[in-house]
Amino acid sequence: MEIRIKKSDLVSETSDVLVLGVYQDKQSFEHSASSKKIDELLEGLLTQIAKEESFHGKANQILWARSNDAFASKRLLLVGLGKKEECTLETIRQAAAIALSAIKQTTAKSAVCLLLGDVSDVRERTHAMIEGIRLADYGFGRYKKEKKTHLKSLDLLVEDGRDVIAAKKGMELAEQFVKGTLFVRDLVNTPGLHMAPQHLVDEAKLIAKNNKQIKVKVFDEEKLAKMGAGGILCVSQGSDHPSFLVHMTYTPATKSKKRIALVGKGVTFDSGGLSLKPADYMMTMKCDMAGAADVLGVFAVIAAIAPKVEVHGIFATVENMPSGNAIRPGDVIEIMNKKTVEVLNTDAEGRLILADALVYATRQKPDAIIDLATLTGACVVALGEEITGVMSNTPALSNALLTAAASAGEKMWELPLEKNYRKLIQGDIADIKNIGGRYGGALTAGLFLQEFVDKTPWAHLDIAGPAFAERDINAYEKKGATGHGVRTLLKYLLSI
Ligand code: BES
Ligand code: ZN
Ligand code: ZN
Repeated sequence: MEIRIKKSDLVSETSDVLVLGVYQDKQSFEHSASSKKIDELLEGLLTQIAKEESFHGKANQILWARSNDAFASKRLLLVGLGKKEECTLETIRQAAAIALSAIKQTTAKSAVCLLLGDVSDVRERTHAMIEGIRLADYGFGRYKKEKKTHLKSLDLLVEDGRDVIAAKKGMELAEQFVKGTLFVRDLVNTPGLHMAPQHLVDEAKLIAKNNKQIKVKVFDEEKLAKMGAGGILCVSQGSDHPSFLVHMTYTPATKSKKRIALVGKGVTFDSGGLSLKPADYMMTMKCDMAGAADVLGVFAVIAAIAPKVEVHGIFATVENMPSGNAIRPGDVIEIMNKKTVEVLNTDAEGRLILADALVYATRQKPDAIIDLATLTGACVVALGEEITGVMSNTPALSNALLTAAASAGEKMWELPLEKNYRKLIQGDIADIKNIGGRYGGALTAGLFLQEFVDKTPWAHLDIAGPAFAERDINAYEKKGATGHGVRTLLKYLLSI
């Protein structure tokens, strides 16, 4: 589907559907200049239909009407924006997504949509609309034979010619944010059968091949053994697929102010290993590489959005399987920084591979490290399925990430790195163990990771809940991979 920005008045636009946003609870449609105009053209018909259909312009409400030849488009779709004073960019993202989904249920080939709402500036509003539309339009089509879409074009109308440039800028950036997000969704939705560690390596190489500003280094098992990456190697022992540590580097065109490392968990399938997961818990475990996919998603668009920082994208990728060669509960292994770990539960594998990746990242001497991982079920228990848990040793970093998340429309909440819980991961026969007690599992996992970053400012994002939706979340995040994390990271990198 092609999306264009166009300066035009909505009355003369010819299209199959004309979309208008309407705020809630005003007597008629008079509160919006354009809906008033349309209502007049239809001689009050709209007011009448709205009354009959109990359409009040509440958020997520829609109303279809015919144009009756009063204006050039065939049909009219009103989409509610809720109360004017409560309207945010997220309301606009949702409304755009709802309108798109409604249009897609018809045979309409073309649509025009006036910029929704009047919060924030034109650039931000256009950005939000493009995200809502494109993310709602996504479907994972790899294995579906039947693919039918009618809608070919959607024009976003700006009524004031002076707004065209701002709208185009908003669209350009949004298209990159969307590209990164959908890239992640495709990777995460791909089942373990077609998504072994090698595939993630290939994606990294492909990104680097297509871009001069991106370099990639891949460490295979032989190299990992020499480096002493016992965390990655012990998890991959049980799998027939070899594991890797991947290091991508983005160098900005102008001299960079800062160096940021992004680190991802890339478990292409998490069976739990010998501490095997129950069948119900294993069904979605193709999603366990979402952290690594987020890093790749950022790198897929980083050159186009051109943040003025040097960015290192590092991920460890393995498959966690049980076998005669698999690591046993009780085994002791050594991480790259020589710390020893008692592996009491082979299902707490993410922290083992991240430990090596974090030591490697720390050695790049970054100003900050941000790791992303579908790390603990406990984080999902604590914050539910839609919110990422943020843990950090540097308040300024977690605050910057929370701010970026809020403006990206991704929900994140800070959890504490409680020093007093460190004793819960104290090892009996090794330095530390890979599980804490019965409670606070997200926090003990965070404390485990902290052992491998020294004093480097670091933030850990536990995306176990939001990375993969087990049911529809909202109008643009449907069941399946969400790509959660990418837009926050991009916003954060642009904010430095
Ligand atoms: N990949 C899982 C965490 C997870 C759970 C991700 C739900 C997405 C949705 C992780 O490797 C894991 O199994 N963690 C264990 C840790 C426990 C054994 C200490 C968990 O959370 O149960
Ligand atoms: Zn696990
Ligand atoms: Zn896992």
